[in-house]
Amino acid sequence: MDNKAKFTAPGLSSNEGAAAAGVLQDRLTALTDLQLTLKHVHWNVVGPNFIAVHKMLDPQVKAVRKMVDDTAERIATLGMSPMGTLGALARDRGGDEYPLARAETMAHLEALDHVYDNVISQHRQAMNKLEDIDLVSQDMLIEQLAKLEQFQWFVRAHREDPSGTLTSSTMG
Ligand SMILES: [Fe+2]
Repeated sequence: MDNKAKFTAPGLSSNEGAAAAGVLQDRLTALTDLQLTLKHVHWNVVGPNFIAVHKMLDPQVKAVRKMVDDTAERIATLGMSPMGTLGALARDRGGDEYPLARAETMAHLEALDHVYDNVISQHRQAMNKLEDIDLVSQDMLIEQLAKLEQFQWFVRAHREDPSGTLTSSTMG
């Protein structure tokens, strides 16, 4: 990462501060991508339950944008420069592009469920990495995870049948 400052949080070595910030930068990229994807779905969803899904997503966008801000500011607090430009995001994001544009609610919810699978499992790995580096940063990710997992449940509940099985749409 660029622009290492001459300070970090007191009590951390500069290497520890940089290591924690590096873990957080990866999550900053993922969360920025997530809030863009949630708005993309908000705009492109069509069909039955349109208004329910359309309206469900804006509070998620708002909460994830807060996570983006908190994560970026924690990186700066640790003495590193948070990279938040579209160019940096495009360079650093891994994984597949969100697969749908205009599509039925159930197809979007299935795709979004998979998006949350990836973000949440990677967030959990990052939380574990921070265990031996910086517990303050870890605490922030723990709080974010609780919300992200709840948001995934909101999405999944639309896909769930009474037996607890996740149904698949016919999106192919
Ligand atoms: Fe809107």
